Amino acid sequence: MPTYLLTGAAGFIGSHTCVALLEAGHEVVAIDNFANSHADVYERVEQITGRSVKHYDFDVRDRSQLAAVFGRHQIDGVIHFAGLKAVGESVERPWEYYEVNLGSTMTLISVMREQDCFNLVFSSSATVYGESKILPIPESAPLSASNPYGRSKLIIEDMLRDLSSSDNRWHIALLRYFNPVGAHPSGLIGEDPKGRPNNLFPVITQVIDGRLPELQIFGDDYDTPDGTGVRDYIHVCDLAGGHLAAVENLGGLGGAHAINLGSGNGHSVREVLEQFQAVLGRSLPHCYVARRPGDAASCYADASRAAELWSWRTTKTLQEMVEDSCRWGGFLK
Ligand code: WQD
Repeated sequence: MPTYLLTGAAGFIGSHTCVALLEAGHEVVAIDNFANSHADVYERVEQITGRSVKHYDFDVRDRSQLAAVFGRHQIDGVIHFAGLKAVGESVERPWEYYEVNLGSTMTLISVMREQDCFNLVFSSSATVYGESKILPIPESAPLSASNPYGRSKLIIEDMLRDLSSSDNRWHIALLRYFNPVGAHPSGLIGEDPKGRPNNLFPVITQVIDGRLPELQIFGDDYDTPDGTGVRDYIHVCDLAGGHLAAVENLGGLGGAHAINLGSGNGHSVREVLEQFQAVLGRSLPHCYVARRPGDAASCYADASRAAELWSWRTTKTLQEMVEDSCRWGGFLK
């Protein structure tokens, strides 16, 4: 069976993708420096799958250690998750975002070329669409970025497009995630960010367990059905399935291709809050405050390309995303 190298494998999406690849019978080689993850996640991946993960604990930018991993394993393809991903933090620390996100990618590509490995799945983001005027958003929509995090993703996409245009040995999938949420139904792995969360789901789970006093809803005067922001939430297990489909079908993908990974449906902040309250059977403290700078009113995917290419579609409902988040948080059996 093929062996895939996952960078950032101990992270939220990386760990769930490890599970999906192992359950599909593939071998996984993992690399993570635990900048935003924890070492014990590998034991829990093994607990879920009954299969072991060969993992190396270093920064992907360490070229000699990375080359040594390729020397030890026959790597058939790489899924590159490693990187920093907080929009607000990227505004405060732009240079670190460029050093980590671009630096890790450049080191990875250099080593892959030396090792004759040309199959790559890159963790991109819907943030490269900026505040798209087109809804649902197709992969052909204009690209722009309004913060260093988004710019780092856009620059890397451009680098990978140039690389594949210059060398037809490359097969590259640029996966643009919308809003990954939820957790594995076992409750053993989930989103476990270091520091204060910015995203809606981890903020709500910190309100539930009292670490935060209330949910502040950023604006209720958007041009949306209930005035609050609308987003395309995708269960992390569905997202992992999208990576499995991508990596198994890379061979048929000459060049570099952007593919949206989203449900194609939008849900508002109020709908998400109401779903959490329904699952928990109690109301949660919340208030309405000013809009957050940079937020779009609505953002949801045209997910048809992944369906056409790989017959991949999301399967999980908002209720399942909320239930699995609550189970991971320990609020639900
Ligand atoms: C969702 C909705 C907020 C927190 C971000 C990144 C994007 C991607 C996914 C990496 C919005 C509202 C949120 C809160 C709120 N990450 N909200 N109160 O901003 O759509 O996307 O995460 O690729 O790059 O930009 O996600 O979860 O922060 O916000 O009202 O305390 O919830 O206004 O409408 P976002 P989010």
